[in-house]
Amino acid sequence: MQEKIEQLKQEITEKFANVKNMQELQDLKVLYMGKKGIITELNNGIKDVAPEEKKEYGMLVNSVRTLFNDSFQAMQNKLQEELINEKLKKDTIDISLPSKKIKRGSKHPLNRVIEEVEDLFVSMGYDVYDGPELEDDEHCFRLLNYYVGHPARDAQDTFYIDDEYLLRTQTSASQSRVMQENKEKTPIRIICPGKTYRRDDDATHSHQFSQVEGLVIDEGISLADLKRTLEILAKKLLGNDTQIRFRPSYFPFTEPSCEVDVTCFKCGGHGCNLCKQTGWIELLGAGMVHPNVLRMSGYDPEKYTGFAFGTGLDRLAMFKYAIPDIRLLYTNDIRFLEQFDRKDEENEIKY
Ligand code: PHE
Repeated sequence: MQEKIEQLKQEITEKFANVKNMQELQDLKVLYMGKKGIITELNNGIKDVAPEEKKEYGMLVNSVRTLFNDSFQAMQNKLQEELINEKLKKDTIDISLPSKKIKRGSKHPLNRVIEEVEDLFVSMGYDVYDGPELEDDEHCFRLLNYYVGHPARDAQDTFYIDDEYLLRTQTSASQSRVMQENKEKTPIRIICPGKTYRRDDDATHSHQFSQVEGLVIDEGISLADLKRTLEILAKKLLGNDTQIRFRPSYFPFTEPSCEVDVTCFKCGGHGCNLCKQTGWIELLGAGMVHPNVLRMSGYDPEKYTGFAFGTGLDRLAMFKYAIPDIRLLYTNDIRFLEQFDRKDEENEIKY
């Protein structure tokens, strides 16, 4: 009997060692402890054992049962733990996997120029004014001294909504708005960057383009203030060696009026293909605010004077980044825009 029990124990130990899953474990339970299981039958056999051997027999059977139960419990724990670990493994997020690359956009070259101009003028105490793109004839023309039928209107054909409303042809429209809003308060120091519209369409003109307007009004403002301000602007935007020159010109809302040129930043003023051998490049229009314009918007021209200037931001961006066609700025071609994902200085063209 003893021998038989030892053999059985060995067999049980081996069988448990080979168990691979819960099903096999359950099968073992049926095999040994089920209704007709091996250990169950041994247990039931006690009734046929002689009384004096019953005690020993019982102990031996008990020891097998204990072995079985302990092994069963141990194996069950082990399998359960394995199951949990496997589940945890499946459920974890592998943070070592590279994530999908998020494509970063880049600042549009026009916005870069606008921000640079804004930074400069804000540092000099100007406010940034945001005028409407849908303007009325009054602000875009009449209050700027372009009476109905004025010949200078012809140079600025645009998109009319009706007889009174139109898409503004120049940010100068903001001049009279700012003056009216300030009601004779001074000083006025604003720049107004924004979109403008004209009936144009070729490599250097677009039906929609961008300008920035500057307006300063106070007592005692002179042409010298305008000149110094534009000098600072030119040097900041195009380099410290840049010089400016004033040429007489005409705008209905400024008197005197001028065009302002800068020394060519490609050749330094010697003459090249960019400046058409003149050494100069036209930068902007400017002048002293016309007395009529001051008066019409509520400022006494005997007391106040002012200067204004306006320039195309597209031109500035085209110069700065050597962009050959203005329409590239407005067609949202990703291949073009992607080229401006570096720092400002790295994008600039060193002529
Ligand atoms: N608005 C003018 C233009 O578009 C430029 C300008 C602005 C001229 C301010 C003088 C003063 O051509």
